[in-house]
Amino acid sequence: MKHAREWFVIVLLPLVVIGGMYLLRRDPELRNRQWPTQMDASPAYLPQTANPVLPSGATNQMPVAGTIPRGFQPFHYGSGEEESLRAGRELTNPFPATPENLKRGEFIYSNYCAVCHGATGAGDGPIIPKYPNPPSYLTDKSRALADGTMYHVITMGRKDMPQHAAQLSAEDRWKVILHIRKLQGE
Ligand code: HEC
Repeated sequence: MKHAREWFVIVLLPLVVIGGMYLLRRDPELRNRQWPTQMDASPAYLPQTANPVLPSGATNQMPVAGTIPRGFQPFHYGSGEEESLRAGRELTNPFPATPENLKRGEFIYSNYCAVCHGATGAGDGPIIPKYPNPPSYLTDKSRALADGTMYHVITMGRKDMPQHAAQLSAEDRWKVILHIRKLQGE
C-alpha cells in the first residue's frame, strides 16, 4: 500500500468529484433557483403586460388627449406636393445662421445627407448611381425652394428621398437647411 495516497489523489478523488457532480446534476432546461427574489419579481406591473388596476386593462397608456411630449414639435402637414408648398408658405426657419448653428447643420449634412446629395450639394454623393440621383441644390429651381418646403421634404420624404423625421430632431432638420443655403451661396 505504498502508493495508496497517490492512487487516492489521482484516480479516486476525481472519480468521486465528477461522479458526485453527475449524480447531483440538474435538468439544464430548468430555471436556476434564486434567493432573494425581490430583484426579479418586482411588485410593479411591467410595461406591455396586462394590468388589472387600470381601466384599459393594459400597463402601457396612451398619451393624454391634447398633450404633446416634452421637446416634441407637432408637424401639421400631410404628405404630397400641395402640402409641401403650403409648408413653404407658412413656415420659416426659426434658427439664424450663426456659426454654431451652421456648424451643427454641416455636421448633420455630412452624416445624413452627403451620402446621396454630395459634399457640395451637386447630387453626386458616393452612393450615386447605385441610388437614383437627387437633384442638385445648385440650380435656380432648388435655390427658389422655400425653407418650409425643404423642411417638409426632409420631414416627410418625397419619392426617392427618404423621410428623416425619426432620425433627426426638428431643430437639426432646420439647421441642416442653413448648411444647404450656405452650399447654394458658394
Ligand atoms: C438615400 C438618398 C438620400 C438621402 C440620404 C437624402 N436625400 Fe434628399 N433627396 C434624395 C432624392 C432622390 C431626392 C429627389 C426626390 C424627388 O424625386 O422628388 C431628394 C430631394 C431632396 C430635397 C428637394 C430638392 C429639390 O430641389 O427639390 C431636399 C431639400 C433634400 N432632399 C434634403 C435632404 C437632406 C437635408 C438630407 C439629409 C438630412 C437628405 N436630403 C438626405 C435622396 C436623398
